[in-house]
Amino acid sequence: MQKLIIQGGTRLCGEVAISGAKNAALPVLCAALLTTDTVKINNVPFLHDVTTMLALLKKVGVVIETTSDHSETVLTATTLSSLMAPYEMVKTMRAAILLLGPMLARAGEAIISLPGGCAIGLRPVDQHIKGLQAMGAEIKIEHGYIHAVAKQLKGTQIVMDIVSVTGTENLMMAATLASGTTVIENAAREPEIIDLANCLIAMGAKIHGAGSDIITVEGVKSLHGATHNVMPDRIEAGTFLVAGAASQGEIYLSGVASHTLDAMLDKLTEAGAIIQLGDNWISLKMNNRPKSVDLRTAPYPAFPTDMQAQFMAMNCIADGTAIITETIFENRFMHVQELKRMSANISVEGNTAIIRGITRLDGAYVMATDLRASASLVIAGLIAQGETVVDRIYHLDRGYERIEDKLSQLGAKIKRSS
Ligand code: UD1
Repeated sequence: MQKLIIQGGTRLCGEVAISGAKNAALPVLCAALLTTDTVKINNVPFLHDVTTMLALLKKVGVVIETTSDHSETVLTATTLSSLMAPYEMVKTMRAAILLLGPMLARAGEAIISLPGGCAIGLRPVDQHIKGLQAMGAEIKIEHGYIHAVAKQLKGTQIVMDIVSVTGTENLMMAATLASGTTVIENAAREPEIIDLANCLIAMGAKIHGAGSDIITVEGVKSLHGATHNVMPDRIEAGTFLVAGAASQGEIYLSGVASHTLDAMLDKLTEAGAIIQLGDNWISLKMNNRPKSVDLRTAPYPAFPTDMQAQFMAMNCIADGTAIITETIFENRFMHVQELKRMSANISVEGNTAIIRGITRLDGAYVMATDLRASASLVIAGLIAQGETVVDRIYHLDRGYERIEDKLSQLGAKIKRSS
């Protein structure tokens, strides 16, 4: 199993180019299922989740041509040879549920493994199923699989009980080929939804309101090919900014969509960082020890759950006491036990963590438990005294492109070992 070995204590300084967004690339790749034409996707990040998604799309019959780093990926779904996403693939990547909506709309049937729980929580998919049923799909859960059938989906009004990102994406994709108009209320407003909508619109879909909580989709008979550039990854950008701030460094991010990071930038400013930005760049300078910042995760535009663990690492060495409340996932404090092994002073009660800042963390052998928890441990290792070994970094490779190379560019002493 691969590990990262980090010698902590370096101030991170320099420039990093931000990759395409994992959470935008995955749904956009699935959108190719909606047309028999060729769809070209640029700025696809080189990540395990993308490799898994491409393998899954290939398995159902999509012809894929891609560069070695996946950055330019061309997909053609002339015919679908299988309508099934098997458990072996879905269990490693929950986003495989994103095949459900487009495959059902395109082929009239889809058999997708139920993802099951994961390290951070139960993560049901009832909202995806409820929405598709409202559009006329017959759905049975059989032997751990969602079996959905619908000759022709019908537009309708759907009120989502819970704001769900992939739920909204699945329903929006399904609605593009439904007969009539679909209105999705209480939709997720994440920038990745807008990115997907832009790709679908380029393919001929009629979508209004993406980025607001009411999305209207007028169904069309067919979609056509298009070229789309995946938006920059706001979580990767946020992770580097926090690493820069926690190490009292000075960093410059290029190729970033700065307007998608407002909640994170507010918190970094509150922590004492000096931030400047343009449309596609952000610079951060931290002159002093960071100040503790309270935060509460919630759907976009509020503070993202995917950045909670990284900010916790910074709060560990900040001046003061911080309260972090996690409202999205019920078990997303797995990094706490590991941070405590590095001498952090954290107590958890229910969905709230209280972090009392100390002046330094100690390097230790720690275990990554999920994607963003891994990023938090890497940040902790970068600011700790001595050596930190982060084990089980396959989680990290699911969502961060060449993280050790990018951190080395900033002066970090970090290397990968098998
Ligand atoms: C997406 C992101 C993930 C991020 C999360 C929250 C992708 C590929 N992944 O995951 O990185 O952490 O949004 O911003 O985009 N829920 C239900 N029923 C449903 C669907 C969701 O109860 O049918 C609950 C979930 O358990 C969770 C909350 O709703 O508590 C939000 O989940 P959701 O937005 O669906 O997360 P994902 O789309 O899986």
